[in-house]
Amino acid sequence: MNDETAVEVTNLWKVYTEDDSLSIDVNNPDEVRSIEGSGDNVIATRDVSFTVEPQITFTIMGLSGSGKSTVVRCLIRLLVPTAGEVRINGKDVTSLDTEGLINFRRNEVGMVFQHYGLLPHRTVVENVCLGLKFQGVSREDRERIGMEALGTVGLDGWEDYYPASLSGGMQQRVGIARALAIDPPLLLLDEPFSGLDPLIKRNMQDELLQLQEEMRKTIIFVTHDLDEAIRVGSRLAIMKDGRIVQQGTPKEIMSNPADDYVRNFVKDKKKQIEHAEAQE
Ligand SMILES: Nc1ncnc2c1ncn2[C@@H]1O[C@H](COP(=O)(O)OP(=O)(O)OP(=O)(O)O)[C@@H](O)[C@H]1O
Ligand SMILES: [Mg+2]
Repeated sequence: MNDETAVEVTNLWKVYTEDDSLSIDVNNPDEVRSIEGSGDNVIATRDVSFTVEPQITFTIMGLSGSGKSTVVRCLIRLLVPTAGEVRINGKDVTSLDTEGLINFRRNEVGMVFQHYGLLPHRTVVENVCLGLKFQGVSREDRERIGMEALGTVGLDGWEDYYPASLSGGMQQRVGIARALAIDPPLLLLDEPFSGLDPLIKRNMQDELLQLQEEMRKTIIFVTHDLDEAIRVGSRLAIMKDGRIVQQGTPKEIMSNPADDYVRNFVKDKKKQIEHAEAQE
């Protein structure tokens, strides 16, 4: 592995099985075919490989059910991959022992989930400080860092509210503040803005771009929206039915879509651009 690689995923497979003890040889095509035909098991990712250089935003894009969240969850072993290897900042995540995994999750990665994932009975600042508490940071320092993180996402003054009194956009900011508070080198954002109104979504994208200018983290950003993928990401991987069908820079993908699936996304985007130009 190259020193310049922050995330390296190699031949990652995840099969959801009814029976956890079922062992599957993904290198045996007959076995894979029989799983596909069984109806009980779902092949959510197939042979997914990609690398992410440090300090860039890498976007994973694809329709609902294409396997995006499964990939992201396998990166921090919230799901155990069926096969394949995940290396993050030089660590083989797939082979970490329990203690190694706990430390890795506490210190090296921040995750923002698709559906907020805030604790309803904790205040905004308590939610933000949760990771710091697990890191053993003192109460005083937690408070200070938590307030700073809330300031970074524009939520000064909201620290003592409960999540339910905040709008969707604000709750998502709390999720981002929580991920930022532990200052991890890697951020995983799983459709963080997909439930938001278009205008708010655009504002949040702008803020993320601005934050990233200052922070220079490695970010993996999941979306089903090509427009968003192109705005926030400097490299994209496009997923379909558990596979990556194309990866490259937005420009490479826009100018040379690999198949009809990608071409359809790109066509919509091009139409949007033409429409906007015609209105100018
Ligand atoms: N716990 C589970 N058990 C069985 N099948 C699952 C499970 N979680 C996801 N799947 C299936 O795996 C496939 C990939 O799901 P995944 O959630 O990774 O997709 P996604 O691209 O994140 O979709 P979305 O955009 O809707 O979030 C889908 O067919 C889904 O139904
Ligand atoms: Mg998902």
